[in-house]
Amino acid sequence: MNPRIVDWKNRRVWLVGASAGIGAALARALAGRGARLALSARSADKLQALDIEGALLLPCDASEVASLAETRQILLEKWGGVDLVIYLAGDYVPMRAQTFDLARAEQVISVNFNGAMYLAATVLADLKPGGGIAFVASVAGYRGLPKSVCYGPGKAALIHFAECLHLDLADQGIGIWLINPGFVQTRLTAQNDFSMPALLTPEQAAVAILEGFRTGPLEIHFPKRFTLALKLVSLLPYRWYFPLIRRITGA
Ligand SMILES: NC(=O)c1ccc[n+]([C@@H]2O[C@H](COP(=O)([O-])OP(=O)(O)OC[C@H]3O[C@@H](n4cnc5c(N)ncnc54)[C@H](OP(=O)(O)O)[C@@H]3O)[C@@H](O)[C@H]2O)c1
Repeated sequence: MNPRIVDWKNRRVWLVGASAGIGAALARALAGRGARLALSARSADKLQALDIEGALLLPCDASEVASLAETRQILLEKWGGVDLVIYLAGDYVPMRAQTFDLARAEQVISVNFNGAMYLAATVLADLKPGGGIAFVASVAGYRGLPKSVCYGPGKAALIHFAECLHLDLADQGIGIWLINPGFVQTRLTAQNDFSMPALLTPEQAAVAILEGFRTGPLEIHFPKRFTLALKLVSLLPYRWYFPLIRRITGA
């Protein structure tokens, strides 16, 4: 469904959300395979601390479209083009209806969905056949989950957005990758007060993402032992889905 990326040597890749967690691990993995990297996140010091030789460090705030547009301009001046753009920026707050915090929810959705949409709008004209744009959403976007009242909706919107882009761009050979991880050990999931099934390290997540780029599906989801079970549960009608998900999560 997507171009297959096997050889990363000199491929020009812009990662937005590269200073920590999955993005930092993916940046290291891509550097090891010879990709040319542009790394963005808000914290310039953390990008610097990654110490990836030859990487362009382009701090920006993905929740502001002007900041992304300015960064793209710098990138094009340096490289003359870009082959693959990967959106990994994200935020997470466990939140329930009973403790709903609108201001915080807006912040989360702003980076988890609006930022991805801003980035797509910024680079769509630059994408060429054989390349494209990848979005890290989450399995939390499949169906409603407990404590997910602000995280889940942004991820569901991002999944839908990627599907629509795929419908429009696949014929032109432009890749749209939808990356849906299960639990990965990062500062975001460090907030969880429950035992996370099938938890991966960011390095394991990076390996799974590269394997997805190698094989070319629209959706790269991992670890399969967790995501396939969740996909199956997500197929259930509401009257079976809600009792089951309550039982599984203890919510
Ligand atoms: N960890 C998991 O279990 C898991 C599971 C499914 C999906 N995901 C998704 O995977 C993505 C990466 O998550 P992670 O767990 O690796 O989190 P993380 O360690 O907190 O990394 C998030 C990255 O996004 C950057 N970022 C946040 N807000 C930004 C903004 N406004 N503009 C630019 N960059 C911004 C952060 O850098 P700065 O703070 O320096 O800006 C950081 O580099 C997120 O979309 C998350 O929802 C994670």
